[in-house]
Amino acid sequence: MPTSTELSNARHHHSDASTHASHNPPNALAQNAEPGPSPDQSGNPDDDDSAGTDGNTATHARTVAAPTVRRPTIADGAHMWRIASDSGELDVNTPYAYALLARDFHDTCRVATVADEAVGFVTGYRRPEAPTTLFVWQIAVEPAFRGRNIGGLLLDALVRDLVDIVAVETTVTQTNDSSRRLFGKFADRHDARMSESPLFAAGHFPDAHEAEPLLTISGLAH
Ligand SMILES: CC(C)(COP(=O)(O)OP(=O)(O)OC[C@H]1O[C@@H](n2cnc3c(N)ncnc32)[C@H](O)[C@@H]1OP(=O)(O)O)[C@@H](O)C(=O)NCCC(=O)NCCS
Repeated sequence: MPTSTELSNARHHHSDASTHASHNPPNALAQNAEPGPSPDQSGNPDDDDSAGTDGNTATHARTVAAPTVRRPTIADGAHMWRIASDSGELDVNTPYAYALLARDFHDTCRVATVADEAVGFVTGYRRPEAPTTLFVWQIAVEPAFRGRNIGGLLLDALVRDLVDIVAVETTVTQTNDSSRRLFGKFADRHDARMSESPLFAAGHFPDAHEAEPLLTISGLAH
């Protein structure tokens, strides 16, 4: 296994950019006007984070509903499970696990919606031994909505709301370029350092599974 290595965000492979640049969300979601934030089912009106002004999204803003980010409710558990199942990448937890996360860890989880439909989620928790470190367990965006920085909006919303968080950890396989790009850009936006070190080797998993090295993003500017 490699030793702890500073990652240069610039080294992230970007060969799929031309393919993704042509991606368009489904016509069913085309709208002429940007809607306001969706209702916050958790009962916290301040949770909503309508986010239609960033890079790619701004390009589509006149034709596509802007994503909104909020804390999950128990009802979102089923949506999170569906999005994880559709991801083609994640180890899918049980529907019960997502309902439980939505109930007990909603402060460190978020759901992204477009036109009131859940299209992405992030789950995480404060590490019990280091509560100012947020461990990002899973993040996924529906395939049709990728490449619009919705993953970035989910991560940014967590860091914005969890003001005492000083570091973010996650594990990402060597082959998951999209996820590595996502976290690399997140680190850049927050003037943070990203390093990589071994954590879970393939042999730690009883099934066929790639190694999951640890990415640590530290020195976060909020
Ligand atoms: C990782 C993931 C959450 C990123 O979400 P996102 O909202 O698409 O994030 P971004 O828009 O910032 O795109 C991140 C990278 O994905 C790639 N990408 C862009 N458009 C894409 C598309 N239509 N389809 C797939 N990947 C795309 C690009 O490499 C992009 O980096 P770039 O902006 O520098 O070109 C999403 O790809 C996903 O759900 N993947 C499957 C689940 C997964 O792997 N989760 C992480 C486990 S560690």
